[in-house]
Amino acid sequence: MVFYEPGKTSHGLPRDPFKSCVTPRPIGWISTRSKDGIDNLAPYSQFNNLTFDPPYVMFSANWDLNANRKDSTVNAEATGEFCWNVATWDLREAVNQTAEWFDPNVDEFQRAGLEKEPAKLLKVPMVKASPIKFECKYYTTLHLPGNPPMGSADVVIGKVVVVHIDERVLTDGMIDLGKVQPIARCGYHQYTVVRAESIFEMIIPGDPKQLVGLEGNAAKSADLQANGHGVEPTK
Ligand SMILES: Cc1cc2nc3c(=O)[nH]c(=O)nc-3n(C[C@H](O)[C@H](O)[C@H](O)COP(=O)(O)O)c2cc1C
Repeated sequence: MVFYEPGKTSHGLPRDPFKSCVTPRPIGWISTRSKDGIDNLAPYSQFNNLTFDPPYVMFSANWDLNANRKDSTVNAEATGEFCWNVATWDLREAVNQTAEWFDPNVDEFQRAGLEKEPAKLLKVPMVKASPIKFECKYYTTLHLPGNPPMGSADVVIGKVVVVHIDERVLTDGMIDLGKVQPIARCGYHQYTVVRAESIFEMIIPGDPKQLVGLEGNAAKSADLQANGHGVEPTK
C-alpha cells in the first residue's frame, strides 16, 4: 500500500500520483473577456457544477510560474462574467491549444482557429462549435493558499444565468452523451472520453423524491416546495 502525507512524506513513486486519484474530471473550457476587450479561452479540469437550483459552477485556477493569477481569474473578477463551453472529442486539439501560456493581449479563440458565438446576456463570447454552453455571472472567489510558484489556487464560482444546448446532441429530448462525446482529464497527460457504450444507469432505492436532487430537476423541486417541503432560502 502506498501511503504518504502530501508535503511531508514521499510517495516514492516515479511521478506524482495525486491528480490521477480523482478522475475523470470534467473540463471547464472557460471563456472570458479582459477589461480591455481581449477574449480569452482556457481549459480547467479542476471544474464542476456545485448545485442546480439555481445552478452554480466553479473552476479552480492555480497561479502561474511567476506566482501570478491566471487570466481567466483576473478577467472573471474584473468583468463579473465568464462562459463555460463543453470540451468534446472533436474539439480536443483546440482545447489543448488554448492551454498554452499566452500573453493576456492574445485572443486565444483566434490562436486556436475557433469561431466565436455571441452570448445572449453577457459580453463574453462562447465557442460556436461546442454543443453545450453556460453563461455565468461571477459570484465569488475562494483563495486557497499554497506553495509557490503554482500551489496557490483561486476557486472562481459563477451563477449560471443562460444554458445553451445544441439540438443536434438531443435524443428524445435528453442530452445524448454519445453524441456530445465530452472529454475529461485523468492524471499525468491522460484523458478519457464518454462514449455511448460507457454509459449505464442506476436508480437510488427508496423514496423517489430523493431523485429530484439527483437529477437536478428544478421544476420538480419547485413542486415539492409547493407541496409544503422546505422553507424559503435565507439568503
Ligand atoms: C485539459 C486541461 C486542464 C487544465 N486544468 C487546469 C486547472 O484545473 N487549473 C489550472 O490552473 N490550470 C489548468 N490547466 C492549464 C491552463 O489551461 C493554462 O495554465 C492556461 O494557460 C490558463 O490560461 P489563462 O491564464 O488564460 O486563464 C489545464 C490545462 C489543460 C490542457
